[in-house]
Amino acid sequence: MILKALHRVASFGPVYDLIQTVGGIELVYRRFRRALGEHPYHNVLDLGGGTGRIRNLLSSDCNYYCLDNEAPKLLHFRRRNKNALAILGDATATPVADASMDLAICVAVSHHLNDLELQRMVLEITRILRPGGRLLFYDALWKPKWWPGRLLWSLDRGSNPRTKEALLSIIAKHTRILHQEEFRQAHEYLLLIASADEMQPKDLRNGRRAIP
Ligand SMILES: C[S@@+](CC[C@H](N)C(=O)[O-])C[C@H]1O[C@@H](n2cnc3c(N)ncnc32)[C@H](O)[C@@H]1O
Repeated sequence: MILKALHRVASFGPVYDLIQTVGGIELVYRRFRRALGEHPYHNVLDLGGGTGRIRNLLSSDCNYYCLDNEAPKLLHFRRRNKNALAILGDATATPVADASMDLAICVAVSHHLNDLELQRMVLEITRILRPGGRLLFYDALWKPKWWPGRLLWSLDRGSNPRTKEALLSIIAKHTRILHQEEFRQAHEYLLLIASADEMQPKDLRNGRRAIP
């Protein structure tokens, strides 16, 4: 009951943003910038985008669409951004046209989805990305031996923490992983850049690779 009340408070836009700041989100955004490199994009869909905070990381002249299934977060996003493009919807079935996006973002969302929903979201991403488009994926990992992570997961509203292997078994089944990195910052995290272009077997070999 206390946890439920805390989750409700944390879902208010300003509170959510404060938690993110304290958690060191700006350091994580630096990693996103490096991983994206010079990849060009104009239309961007942020699935489970919350308060749309990542908008500040992106070029100011792109079309950024923030999709989330919680209205309070989108309202906060719209209050802060004039001309904000917010979509109240489900990341597993978006109202977005085929091959219309250059970049799909999926940050800290997968642990809110069960395996079937995660698979649907990944397929949805492959549908909406144009050829050459990119997925930026990021989430905390389930590492049973890492106690700070276990503590954080026990407080989290998302109920599907996964190991790196479990995440990759779903994501790499439908996309081509171009870049992969893991790092620790309270939780252990996985950051991926992937493409929905036709998969070539050699690209699914292990290892870290740069965006071509
Ligand atoms: C931990 S928050 C991350 C928000 C944002 N990506 C960020 O990095 O600040 C997870 C978000 O996913 C949203 N979410 C969960 N399931 C969803 C679904 N099926 N469709 C759309 N949004 C969803 C939640 O409402 C929440 O805003």
